[in-house]
Amino acid sequence: MDDLMGGPFALIDHTGKPRTDQDFRGKLLLIYFGYSYCPDVCPTDLQQIALAVDRLGSAGVAVRPLFITVDPERDTAAHLADYVPLFHPRLIGLTGSAEQIGRTALAYKVYYAKFPPDSPDYVVDHSSFIYLVDETGKYIGFFPPGTSADMVEVIKPRLPASPSILVATNFMVGRCTASAIASAAR
Ligand code: NI
Repeated sequence: MDDLMGGPFALIDHTGKPRTDQDFRGKLLLIYFGYSYCPDVCPTDLQQIALAVDRLGSAGVAVRPLFITVDPERDTAAHLADYVPLFHPRLIGLTGSAEQIGRTALAYKVYYAKFPPDSPDYVVDHSSFIYLVDETGKYIGFFPPGTSADMVEVIKPRLPASPSILVATNFMVGRCTASAIASAAR
């Protein structure tokens, strides 16, 4: 199943900027599909994701939480701009056309459906897994619905090594500065 999960996407972030999966190489991604009008599940899960990132302290910069809407009709970029900062300053909201969202959701096998479909006050039924994608863009796995911020213990050993850590390691074992600088420049 793992090889079939995830993959490329092309969406718009909450600042209105086009974003693809390529933009996030080098970061460990926590990807959550939901919608801003969700009464309880999405806010709870997004809070736990934010807590997990904060628990990593400064190492948390290696993690990028992404919130992909399954309600692009109401979750415009402008609307997401008001929503995502409520949870975390580094949380990125992503939206797009119904077709772009549909394709991305399909890639992650996310189920979503409007209910009732013809009401202006619809809710969106949706699956609520938190997906983990590594710094090369490879899908690693998922956290089940309702996972607490303790997910941080699974995240920690998978953090991509940051250039500063590489430099420090090289320094400590007395290796030459050339390789350390090359690592830092990457
Ligand atoms: Ni929700």
